Amino acid sequence: MIITFATQKGGTGKTTLAIAFANYISAISERKINVFDFDYQKSFYHKWKEDEILEIQKLYNVETIGEEEEQPFSDFETLIELKESDEINLFDLAGTLDAKYSDLLIYSDFIVIPFEYSDVSAKSTLVFVNFLGLLESQAERIFIRSKYDKGYRYLNQEGMDTEITRYGILLKSPVFKRNCLQTIDTRKLTYEQKYAVKNAFNELVDYINEILKINL
Ligand SMILES: Nc1ncnc2c1ncn2[C@@H]1O[C@H](COP(=O)(O)OP(=O)(O)OP(=O)(O)O)[C@@H](O)[C@H]1O
Ligand SMILES: [Mg+2]
Repeated sequence: MIITFATQKGGTGKTTLAIAFANYISAISERKINVFDFDYQKSFYHKWKEDEILEIQKLYNVETIGEEEEQPFSDFETLIELKESDEINLFDLAGTLDAKYSDLLIYSDFIVIPFEYSDVSAKSTLVFVNFLGLLESQAERIFIRSKYDKGYRYLNQEGMDTEITRYGILLKSPVFKRNCLQTIDTRKLTYEQKYAVKNAFNELVDYINEILKINL
């Protein structure tokens, strides 16, 4: 299967959530996890490399896809193989739209879209969803409230929630803004980090299981 963390907006928490999800899922699933960093900044990959100094076993491998490469795969069949594989293939994308992402966005099983409620973020999220529509992507879109501040009243929340649920699933549980998520590593989740993501990720896992009729 292919699960892609993507949206058009930079800095919404794609990489943080992708790392947290990869760590989270490796603790609950027997399946092999393969991570592909498809962002030219290579944040996930650099972090994973940096974590080699930690005396904790790695949970998965992270591959990068070169900037000059048009596609992450040598051929289309490789993409379909990843999709049909029982392994969990996670992709972390850059916060920009790029034609080189097209095939991946079309053939991902799930696109996890972190978003915030600021006007700018809301607009970018809708642009991204429209882009997926133009691509005729078959992927299930899963929206996740990222860096959510409990004490804050988001004026556009109701409108935005109504709008995005026309295009996909909105997880009920947000991922709150938490200091502990600012220093995440690729080898483990601390108790605090796990607590910060578990409600949203359990919903996400349940949804994946339901759609693919599997048990992650
Ligand atoms: N839930 C959270 N609570 C607090 N800080 C967060 C949270 N999620 C992400 N951040 C912080 O927000 C910043 C951007 O996060 P991140 O790099 O994950 O976003 P991104 O969408 O991958 O960005 P880019 O588009 O540049 O790839 C980072 O400094 C990260 O530590
Ligand atoms: Mg990123």
